[in-house]
This record gives sequence, C-alpha cells and structure tokens, in this order.
Amino acid sequence: MFDEVRQYFNSSTSRAARARIGQFLTPASIARFMSSMFEGRWRKVRILDPGAGAGALFSSCVEYLVSRKERPNSIEIVAYETDANIIPYLEKSIRWCESLCTSAGTSFHGEIKVKDFISSAITETEENLYSVPVELFSHIIINPPYKKINGQTPMSKMLHSAGIEVANLYAAFVWLSMRLLETGGQMVAITPRSFCNGPYFRKFRIELLKTTSLRHIHVFMSRKKPFGDDNVLQENVIYRVIRKSQKPKFVTISSTEGVDFSRLLSVRIPYSHVVHPDDKDAFIHLGIETNLDLKNMMERFTASLGDLDLEVSTGRIVDFRAKDYLRKSPRRGTVPLIYPCHFQNGFIKWPVESGKKSNAIVSTDETFNLFVEAGYYVLTKRFSSKEQRKRVMAAVYDPARTNTSHVGFENHLNYFHRKGKGLHSDIAKGLALYLNSSIVDRFFRIFSGHTQVNATDLRKIPYPTYEQLVRLGSYVDEKMPEQDTIDALVEKECCCE
Ligand SMILES: C[S@@+](CC[C@H](N)C(=O)[O-])C[C@H]1O[C@@H](n2cnc3c(N)ncnc32)[C@H](O)[C@@H]1O
Repeated sequence: MFDEVRQYFNSSTSRAARARIGQFLTPASIARFMSSMFEGRWRKVRILDPGAGAGALFSSCVEYLVSRKERPNSIEIVAYETDANIIPYLEKSIRWCESLCTSAGTSFHGEIKVKDFISSAITETEENLYSVPVELFSHIIINPPYKKINGQTPMSKMLHSAGIEVANLYAAFVWLSMRLLETGGQMVAITPRSFCNGPYFRKFRIELLKTTSLRHIHVFMSRKKPFGDDNVLQENVIYRVIRKSQKPKFVTISSTEGVDFSRLLSVRIPYSHVVHPDDKDAFIHLGIETNLDLKNMMERFTASLGDLDLEVSTGRIVDFRAKDYLRKSPRRGTVPLIYPCHFQNGFIKWPVESGKKSNAIVSTDETFNLFVEAGYYVLTKRFSSKEQRKRVMAAVYDPARTNTSHVGFENHLNYFHRKGKGLHSDIAKGLALYLNSSIVDRFFRIFSGHTQVNATDLRKIPYPTYEQLVRLGSYVDEKMPEQDTIDALVEKECCCE
C-alpha cells in the first residue's frame, strides 16, 4: 500500500515542490528493514514518527512488533506532519495500524499532530519552572526532511536558542528526537551520511555519540538506488541508537548495494574503530567488509602530515571579496591566481585564457599577505560534482611554469605546504600522485558522505613516508602518469614496504 501512495505522490507532485518541504517518502522495503532493526521485548510501546509523510515508517514498525512472538500489550503512536495534502493518507495508516493491533490483541492509540515538529519538540523539551514532564518514547523511527538551514532565518535562531546548531534540518529533527527518547529507548533513523564527518555536523555528531549508544549503521553502497525513482542523490545511512551514555564494545556495520536486503553484508567492528577515542572531531568511520582489503592496504601508509612536516590549508583568496583586484590576464604588478580550472594532467596549467575565471590578481598592500612565495605546492579541489568519477583530485604547482615570485590560491582549493612555503619537487610530485590514486579516493569515500574535500578530511588520511613519496615522485615527469600506472605504483608501495 505504501509504495502505491509513494508512487502516487511522486507522480502527482513535482520534485521541486517535494524538495521544498523535504518530502521523500521511504520505500516499503526500506521501512520494513528499518523496523526489523529494533531489538528487545517491550510490553508498552510508544512510537514517535516525526515528519511522518503517509506513515510508512510507523506502520511497518507496528506490523513488525505485532508479528513477533512477544508482542507488546499496548502501542501508542505520535506522528507529526505539516503537509495537509498527505494527512488523509496518514489517517488511513493510523486506521490500518489500529486494525492490525486489534487483530493481535494489542491495545492501540494513534495521534496525528499537524504541527511543526521543531517548534513543538523544543517547547516540549525545554525546561523551566512551569514545565510539565513530557511523556517520552520507547521507539522513534524517522526519515526526516532534508533541507539546508540558512544562517539568519527564524528557524535557525529558534534552534540556536534551544542549544541546537546544525546545518541541515535532518540533523535538527534527529537531535530533538534524541531528547524525546526515554532512557533505554531506541531510535532508527535514515538520513544522508554527511553527518559522519566534516566540520558542519561536528556538534550534532558529538551530541549523538554522547547521548546515545550507537549500535548499528547500514550503508547503501549505491547513491541512487535506495530512493531510485525519487532521484535522491545523497548517500544514505540507516542507524540504530539506544539512549544511554555507556558506549558499546562493538558496532554492527552492514551494507547493501540497493534495497535487496537478502544480500546484506554485515560485520561487527570495535566501537573504537568506528569512532576513534582520541578524535575530538568524532568522525564516524564506516569501514565495511568490502573495504577491509582497502583498509589493510592503507594501513601500510603510516605517516601523518605532521610526521612529514607538511600542512594543508584552504586557499586564502575568496574571489568575490577581492573583485576589484582580479584581472583576466597577467600583467605587470599582478601575480598568478590559481583556480580549479587550471588543473591539467596533474599539473597547473596557467594562464587559461579561454575560461571564465581570472588568471591574475593585483599585488597591493591589501592583497599581498594572501599570497605564498613561489615554490612547489600540491593543490586539491575542494568541490567535486556528484557525477565526477573522483573526489580527490590533486595537481602540482610547478613554479618554473609561471615564473613569478608569488602566487595566490583561490578558496575552492586546498594547498599542501611546509610552514607556508613550498615543498621539495619530488615530494610534491609523489604526494600529488598518491592523492590521485584510486585507493585514496576509495578510502576517502568510506568516511566521507559528501562531495566536498575539506582540509580537515585531508589531515586525517594516512600518508606514505618521506622515502615512499620521493620514490613515487620519481615517476612523475612533466605530467601525471595514466590512472592505471598511478594505481599500480601506489599499490606496489603498500605491498612491498
Ligand atoms: C523525508 S519525508 C519522510 C516521510 C515519511 N517519514 C517516510 O519515511 O515516508 C519528511 C516529511 O516531513 C514533513 N515535514 C517537513 N517539515 C516538517 C516539520 N517542520 N514538521 C513536521 N513535518 C515536517 C514533510 O512534509 C515530509 O512528509
């Protein structure tokens, strides 16, 4: 029934209209899988479904709970939803659950709250002199709306005053849901996996891992398949957490290509491998069985950037702020301004006259401290599009090719340097070759759910030793070798060391 409702909704409303309210309904097979992740025996069940859509999630949860041998004595549902068009379907789902429970001899109560979940949950959970203790939930099942939260909107101010700082609505929904979970209660959520790393979700991650015990993460290996026809491109994960501060010893990490859960791969990984105990950014590493070989290979690279005396920073020239100083072509008194469009065959080709971007920036007292001295640098693109084959794309800045005393790197790039200055040419070439390898790209995808490559991420990956980098660099002449050669060279380094 839910897949028909979903199909009907998807065909009768435009994708843009659904995106505006963050409405991507869960296919029935995923809803069933999510419900089956709940564990334990419960006599009295209270289910919360915030942003319930047509009710696919709570319905499959009820179906699952009453089909078990140890079925609950009572089930109560609270479903929040703001889209008036979908409410009739939601009401139908409540009636369906009621009939299921009646047949199973389980008492039932269902309530639909046609209200904004964010403001209701904030009001319900805020503590003041007059607040009445709110009734918490034993089960929360959630596929929240996904939408960026912009800085100065009433929504972001309201969240900020409730102590919630997030970049996307989905994280606000999950954060508030955690507050509504009783001690020992469980939440199963499906969201983009972008929260697993990166600076924008740091506070959310820390709160999630502090308040709850992470038990199971399911990864979809294919970006399109889970919500296929809905064209939701985010990489999704499903996770089950229990509200308690004690950390588990192991986390189950499972994966499927798409929605064929009969072909599920599953491993139990020590919690300390998933969330490293000394990682103050609390990255969540999704090392799955299919990637274990890769992990083993990467473990052969033992150096950190600190060991190599290298640093990585984001390009300091934000072009729209420096508009008055930008020049299409180089001339006297300017220095090269390097953008991602200057990447060519693993090196920087400059100038590129045919493009839209400026090639130069005027050197004045205002701009001078944004430049670096000429030298060999390794540059990586910060943004890749979803369609691009690789996330990590590196190129060498060879000073002999521009022949100027200074250079400016634009903010869409990260650059590797040694104390603000250039690297030895062999190290730069070896590092760019290593970063361009498929194994680094695959490794990067394990812990990064989004298409951005932040400097923080680049600081966390393992690097070859100084000697290995020199060796790799010796294979790079005037241009990067072909991808197959790069991969063979890097794999040889991790097998033979
Ligand atoms: C991603 S959809 C998921 C729907 C349903 N849970 C499912 O899995 O099929 C999110 C739902 O949240 C609703 N929604 C968006 N903003 C909301 C808000 N502030 N409060 C309550 N519901 C909201 C949308 O209308 C949409 O139906």
